[in-house]
Amino acid sequence: GTTLRAAAAEKGRYFGAAVGTYKFNDSTYMSVLNREFNSLVAENEMKWDATEPSRGSFNYGSGDRIVSHARANGMSVRGHNLLWHAQQPGWAQGLSGSDLRNAAINHVTQVATHFRGQIHSWDVVNEAFADGGSGGRRDSNLQRTGNDWIEAAFRAARAADPNAKLCYNDYNTDGINAKSTGIYNMVRDFKSRGVPIDCVGFQSHLGTSISGDYQANLQRFADLGVDVQITELDVTQGGNQANIYATVTRSCLAVSRCAGITVWGVRDCDSWRGGDNALLFDCSGNKKSAYTAVLDTL
Ligand code: XIL
Repeated sequence: GTTLRAAAAEKGRYFGAAVGTYKFNDSTYMSVLNREFNSLVAENEMKWDATEPSRGSFNYGSGDRIVSHARANGMSVRGHNLLWHAQQPGWAQGLSGSDLRNAAINHVTQVATHFRGQIHSWDVVNEAFADGGSGGRRDSNLQRTGNDWIEAAFRAARAADPNAKLCYNDYNTDGINAKSTGIYNMVRDFKSRGVPIDCVGFQSHLGTSISGDYQANLQRFADLGVDVQITELDVTQGGNQANIYATVTRSCLAVSRCAGITVWGVRDCDSWRGGDNALLFDCSGNKKSAYTAVLDTL
Protein backbone atom coordinates (compact mmCIF):
# COMPACT_ATOMS: atom_id res chain seq x y z
CA GLY A 1 0.00 0.00 0.00
CA THR A 2 1.03 3.58 -0.61
CA THR A 3 -1.01 5.05 2.24
CA LEU A 4 -1.23 4.14 5.91
CA ARG A 5 -4.84 3.01 5.57
CA ALA A 6 -4.17 0.79 2.55
CA ALA A 7 -1.00 -0.72 4.00
CA ALA A 8 -2.67 -1.43 7.35
CA ALA A 9 -5.72 -2.94 5.64
CA GLU A 10 -3.46 -5.37 3.76
CA LYS A 11 -2.36 -6.60 7.18
CA GLY A 12 -5.92 -6.78 8.51
CA ARG A 13 -5.44 -3.73 10.72
CA TYR A 14 -6.91 -0.24 10.83
CA PHE A 15 -4.85 2.96 10.95
CA GLY A 16 -6.66 5.81 12.67
CA ALA A 17 -6.36 9.40 13.82
CA ALA A 18 -7.91 11.54 16.55
CA VAL A 19 -9.82 14.45 15.04
CA GLY A 20 -11.49 17.69 16.08
CA THR A 21 -14.54 18.87 14.14
CA TYR A 22 -13.27 22.45 14.43
CA LYS A 23 -10.65 21.49 11.81
CA PHE A 24 -13.11 20.00 9.31
CA ASN A 25 -13.02 23.22 7.25
CA ASP A 26 -9.19 23.04 6.87
CA SER A 27 -8.63 21.57 3.41
CA THR A 28 -5.03 20.46 4.03
CA TYR A 29 -6.09 18.68 7.20
CA MET A 30 -9.02 16.99 5.49
CA SER A 31 -7.07 15.84 2.45
CA VAL A 32 -4.40 14.17 4.63
CA LEU A 33 -7.07 12.69 6.88
CA ASN A 34 -9.13 11.20 4.06
CA ARG A 35 -6.11 9.88 2.17
CA GLU A 36 -4.23 8.22 5.03
CA PHE A 37 -6.65 7.05 7.72
CA ASN A 38 -9.53 4.57 7.89
CA SER A 39 -10.52 5.00 11.54
CA LEU A 40 -11.48 8.14 13.47
CA VAL A 41 -11.76 8.96 17.14
CA ALA A 42 -13.05 12.21 18.61
CA GLU A 43 -10.27 14.05 20.42
CA ASN A 44 -12.88 15.66 22.72
CA GLU A 45 -16.36 15.55 21.19
CA MET A 46 -17.62 12.32 22.78
CA LYS A 47 -16.36 13.00 26.32
CA TRP A 48 -18.80 13.45 29.20
CA ASP A 49 -18.52 17.25 29.36
CA ALA A 50 -19.26 17.48 25.63
CA THR A 51 -22.10 14.95 25.44
CA GLU A 52 -24.00 15.72 28.67
CA PRO A 53 -23.28 19.37 29.51
CA SER A 54 -26.20 19.46 31.91
CA ARG A 55 -27.67 16.46 33.68
CA GLY A 56 -29.98 14.46 31.45
CA SER A 57 -29.54 16.85 28.50
CA PHE A 58 -27.44 15.35 25.73
CA ASN A 59 -25.55 16.99 22.88
CA TYR A 60 -24.45 14.66 20.11
CA GLY A 61 -23.99 17.14 17.24
CA SER A 62 -20.19 17.10 17.00
CA GLY A 63 -19.90 13.39 17.65
CA ASP A 64 -22.47 12.69 14.95
CA ARG A 65 -20.45 14.81 12.49
CA ILE A 66 -17.42 12.61 13.09
CA VAL A 67 -19.48 9.43 12.66
CA SER A 68 -21.03 10.64 9.43
CA HIS A 69 -17.69 11.75 8.02
CA ALA A 70 -16.29 8.32 8.83
CA ARG A 71 -19.19 6.50 7.19
CA ALA A 72 -18.92 8.61 4.04
CA ASN A 73 -15.21 7.85 3.75
CA GLY A 74 -15.07 4.14 4.55
CA MET A 75 -13.71 4.68 8.05
CA SER A 76 -14.62 3.00 11.33
CA VAL A 77 -15.03 4.94 14.59
CA ARG A 78 -13.51 4.46 18.03
CA GLY A 79 -15.71 5.86 20.78
CA HIS A 80 -13.72 7.85 23.36
CA ASN A 81 -14.79 7.76 26.11
CA LEU A 82 -17.76 6.91 28.33
CA LEU A 83 -16.27 7.40 31.82
CA TRP A 84 -13.11 9.18 32.93
CA HIS A 85 -12.00 11.20 35.97
CA ALA A 86 -11.16 14.16 33.70
CA GLN A 87 -13.34 16.31 31.43
CA GLN A 88 -16.44 15.60 33.48
CA PRO A 89 -19.15 18.26 33.34
CA GLY A 90 -19.25 20.50 36.40
CA TRP A 91 -22.54 19.03 37.59
CA ALA A 92 -21.01 15.53 37.75
CA GLN A 93 -17.87 16.77 39.50
CA GLY A 94 -20.16 17.90 42.29
CA LEU A 95 -21.85 14.52 42.79
CA SER A 96 -20.84 11.54 44.93
CA GLY A 97 -22.07 8.19 46.15
CA SER A 98 -25.13 6.55 44.62
CA ASP A 99 -26.19 9.80 42.97
CA LEU A 100 -22.92 9.91 40.99
CA ARG A 101 -23.03 6.16 40.30
CA ASN A 102 -26.55 6.43 38.88
CA ALA A 103 -25.63 9.46 36.79
CA ALA A 104 -22.52 7.72 35.46
CA ILE A 105 -24.30 4.52 34.48
CA ASN A 106 -27.12 6.51 32.91
CA HIS A 107 -24.48 8.41 30.92
CA VAL A 108 -22.98 5.16 29.66
CA THR A 109 -26.39 3.81 28.69
CA GLN A 110 -27.57 6.99 26.95
CA VAL A 111 -24.41 7.66 24.95
CA ALA A 112 -23.81 4.04 23.94
CA THR A 113 -27.47 3.77 22.91
CA HIS A 114 -27.29 6.92 20.81
CA PHE A 115 -24.26 5.65 18.86
CA ARG A 116 -25.42 2.02 18.84
CA GLY A 117 -24.24 0.15 15.73
CA GLN A 118 -21.84 2.91 14.65
CA ILE A 119 -18.88 2.38 16.98
CA HIS A 120 -16.21 -0.25 16.31
CA SER A 121 -14.77 -0.02 19.84
CA TRP A 122 -15.72 2.03 22.89
CA ASP A 123 -13.25 3.18 25.50
CA VAL A 124 -15.79 2.41 28.24
CA VAL A 125 -13.44 3.45 31.04
CA ASN A 126 -10.36 5.64 30.62
CA GLU A 127 -7.36 6.01 32.95
CA ALA A 128 -8.75 4.39 36.11
CA PHE A 129 -5.41 3.07 37.42
CA ALA A 130 -2.82 4.97 39.44
CA ASP A 131 0.66 5.79 38.23
CA GLY A 132 3.63 4.52 40.20
CA GLY A 133 4.22 1.27 41.94
CA SER A 134 0.92 0.52 43.67
CA GLY A 135 -0.76 -1.26 40.76
CA GLY A 136 -4.05 -0.06 42.23
CA ARG A 137 -6.90 2.17 41.25
CA ARG A 138 -6.58 5.91 40.86
CA ASP A 139 -8.51 7.87 43.45
CA SER A 140 -11.42 9.71 41.80
CA ASN A 141 -15.03 10.58 42.45
CA LEU A 142 -15.99 7.52 40.37
CA GLN A 143 -13.68 5.19 42.30
CA ARG A 144 -15.17 6.48 45.56
CA THR A 145 -18.59 5.17 44.45
CA GLY A 146 -17.19 1.64 44.90
CA ASN A 147 -14.59 -0.60 43.29
CA ASP A 148 -17.24 -2.21 41.11
CA TRP A 149 -17.88 0.97 39.10
CA ILE A 150 -15.78 -0.28 36.18
CA GLU A 151 -17.61 -3.56 35.77
CA ALA A 152 -20.96 -1.79 36.15
CA ALA A 153 -19.95 0.51 33.29
CA PHE A 154 -18.93 -2.40 31.05
CA ARG A 155 -22.21 -4.24 31.71
CA ALA A 156 -24.23 -1.13 30.91
CA ALA A 157 -22.27 -0.53 27.70
CA ARG A 158 -22.77 -4.12 26.56
CA ALA A 159 -26.51 -3.90 27.16
CA ALA A 160 -26.74 -0.64 25.20
CA ASP A 161 -24.60 -1.61 22.18
CA PRO A 162 -24.04 -5.37 22.03
CA ASN A 163 -21.94 -5.25 18.85
CA ALA A 164 -19.36 -2.66 19.93
CA LYS A 165 -16.07 -3.96 21.25
CA LEU A 166 -15.66 -2.71 24.81
CA CYS A 167 -12.20 -1.51 25.80
CA TYR A 168 -10.38 -0.39 28.93
CA ASN A 169 -7.90 2.38 27.94
CA ASP A 170 -4.88 3.79 29.81
CA TYR A 171 -1.39 5.36 29.56
CA ASN A 172 2.01 4.54 31.09
CA THR A 173 1.22 0.95 30.17
CA ASP A 174 3.94 0.71 27.53
CA GLY A 175 5.75 -2.23 29.10
CA ILE A 176 5.38 -4.73 31.91
CA ASN A 177 5.18 -2.52 35.01
CA ALA A 178 3.11 -2.20 38.18
CA LYS A 179 0.38 -0.16 36.48
CA SER A 180 -0.01 -2.42 33.45
CA THR A 181 0.04 -5.45 35.75
CA GLY A 182 -2.76 -3.98 37.84
CA ILE A 183 -4.83 -3.61 34.67
CA TYR A 184 -3.82 -7.10 33.55
CA ASN A 185 -5.10 -8.52 36.84
CA MET A 186 -8.41 -6.66 36.42
CA VAL A 187 -8.88 -7.98 32.88
CA ARG A 188 -8.05 -11.51 33.99
CA ASP A 189 -10.61 -11.20 36.79
CA PHE A 190 -13.26 -9.79 34.40
CA LYS A 191 -12.71 -12.65 31.96
CA SER A 192 -12.95 -15.25 34.73
CA ARG A 193 -16.22 -13.78 36.09
CA GLY A 194 -17.86 -13.07 32.72
CA VAL A 195 -17.72 -9.27 32.96
CA PRO A 196 -17.96 -8.13 29.32
CA ILE A 197 -14.60 -6.78 28.12
CA ASP A 198 -13.23 -7.23 24.60
CA CYS A 199 -10.14 -5.07 24.33
CA VAL A 200 -7.47 -3.05 26.07
CA GLY A 201 -6.26 0.26 24.66
CA PHE A 202 -2.64 1.29 25.09
CA GLN A 203 -2.54 5.06 24.68
CA SER A 204 1.20 5.09 23.95
CA HIS A 205 2.01 8.74 24.53
CA LEU A 206 5.75 8.17 24.22
CA GLY A 207 8.90 10.19 24.88
CA THR A 208 12.38 9.61 23.49
CA SER A 209 12.58 5.90 24.28
CA ILE A 210 10.35 2.84 24.32
CA SER A 211 10.31 -0.03 26.75
CA GLY A 212 12.02 -3.16 25.46
CA ASP A 213 9.03 -5.27 26.47
CA TYR A 214 6.37 -3.19 24.67
CA GLN A 215 5.43 -6.12 22.40
CA ALA A 216 5.60 -8.70 25.21
CA ASN A 217 3.20 -6.57 27.23
CA LEU A 218 0.68 -6.43 24.37
CA GLN A 219 1.04 -10.19 23.96
CA ARG A 220 0.33 -11.01 27.61
CA PHE A 221 -2.96 -9.12 27.41
CA ALA A 222 -3.85 -10.82 24.10
CA ASP A 223 -3.18 -14.15 25.78
CA LEU A 224 -6.00 -13.34 28.25
CA GLY A 225 -8.41 -13.45 25.31
CA VAL A 226 -8.88 -9.74 24.58
CA ASP A 227 -7.88 -7.68 21.57
CA VAL A 228 -5.29 -4.98 22.05
CA GLN A 229 -5.27 -1.61 20.30
CA ILE A 230 -2.77 1.23 20.15
CA THR A 231 -5.14 4.10 20.82
CA GLU A 232 -3.41 7.49 21.19
CA LEU A 233 0.06 7.12 19.74
CA ASP A 234 2.37 10.12 19.64
CA VAL A 235 6.15 10.26 20.14
CA THR A 236 8.45 13.13 21.07
CA GLN A 237 10.44 14.24 18.04
CA GLY A 238 14.09 13.49 18.58
CA GLY A 239 16.70 11.18 17.17
CA ASN A 240 14.51 8.18 17.86
CA GLN A 241 11.09 9.31 16.71
CA ALA A 242 10.97 7.32 13.47
CA ASN A 243 12.47 4.23 15.14
CA ILE A 244 9.96 4.34 17.99
CA TYR A 245 7.04 4.68 15.59
CA ALA A 246 8.42 1.71 13.65
CA THR A 247 8.82 -0.34 16.83
CA VAL A 248 5.22 0.29 17.86
CA THR A 249 4.01 -0.64 14.37
CA ARG A 250 6.14 -3.81 14.26
CA SER A 251 4.91 -4.78 17.74
CA CYS A 252 1.26 -4.46 16.72
CA LEU A 253 1.81 -6.51 13.56
CA ALA A 254 3.58 -9.20 15.59
CA VAL A 255 0.58 -9.64 17.92
CA SER A 256 -2.27 -11.25 15.99
CA ARG A 257 -4.87 -9.77 18.35
CA CYS A 258 -3.57 -6.22 17.83
CA ALA A 259 -6.46 -4.75 15.82
CA GLY A 260 -4.96 -1.41 14.84
CA ILE A 261 -3.15 1.81 15.60
CA THR A 262 -4.52 5.31 16.18
CA VAL A 263 -2.31 8.40 16.28
CA TRP A 264 -3.47 11.26 18.50
CA GLY A 265 -3.84 13.90 15.79
CA VAL A 266 -2.91 14.50 12.16
CA ARG A 267 -0.17 17.17 11.91
CA ASP A 268 2.34 18.31 14.52
CA CYS A 269 0.43 21.57 14.93
CA ASP A 270 -2.82 19.71 15.58
CA SER A 271 -1.28 17.86 18.54
CA TRP A 272 -2.16 18.41 22.19
CA ARG A 273 1.62 18.02 22.74
CA GLY A 274 2.42 21.18 20.80
CA GLY A 275 6.15 21.69 20.79
CA ASP A 276 6.98 17.99 20.86
CA ASN A 277 6.24 17.68 17.11
CA ALA A 278 4.97 14.24 18.03
CA LEU A 279 2.98 13.23 14.93
CA LEU A 280 3.53 11.85 11.41
CA PHE A 281 2.91 15.02 9.36
CA ASP A 282 4.47 18.44 9.73
CA CYS A 283 2.37 21.55 10.12
CA SER A 284 2.09 21.93 6.34
CA GLY A 285 0.82 18.37 5.96
CA ASN A 286 4.10 16.99 4.59
CA LYS A 287 5.09 13.42 5.45
CA LYS A 288 7.85 13.19 8.09
CA SER A 289 10.48 10.47 8.32
CA ALA A 290 8.34 8.95 11.07
CA TYR A 291 5.58 8.54 8.48
CA THR A 292 7.90 6.70 6.09
CA ALA A 293 9.10 4.48 8.94
CA VAL A 294 5.52 3.46 9.74
CA LEU A 295 4.54 2.90 6.11
CA ASP A 296 7.67 0.84 5.41
CA THR A 297 7.00 -1.28 8.51
CA LEU A 298 3.35 -1.98 7.66
C1 XIL B 1 -6.66 15.39 25.35
C2 XIL B 1 -7.00 16.19 24.11
O1 XIL B 1 -6.06 15.89 23.11
C3 XIL B 1 -6.95 17.67 24.43
O2 XIL B 1 -7.45 18.43 23.33
C4 XIL B 1 -7.79 17.98 25.68
O3 XIL B 1 -7.61 19.33 26.03
C5 XIL B 1 -7.37 17.09 26.83
O4 XIL B 1 -7.48 15.74 26.44
N1 XIL B 1 -5.43 10.83 27.30
C6 XIL B 1 -6.69 10.73 26.76
C7 XIL B 1 -7.19 11.80 25.85
O5 XIL B 1 -7.36 9.71 26.95
O6 XIL B 1 -8.59 12.00 25.95
C8 XIL B 1 -6.47 13.11 26.08
O7 XIL B 1 -6.88 14.02 25.07
C9 XIL B 1 -4.97 12.90 26.07
C10 XIL B 1 -4.56 11.96 27.16
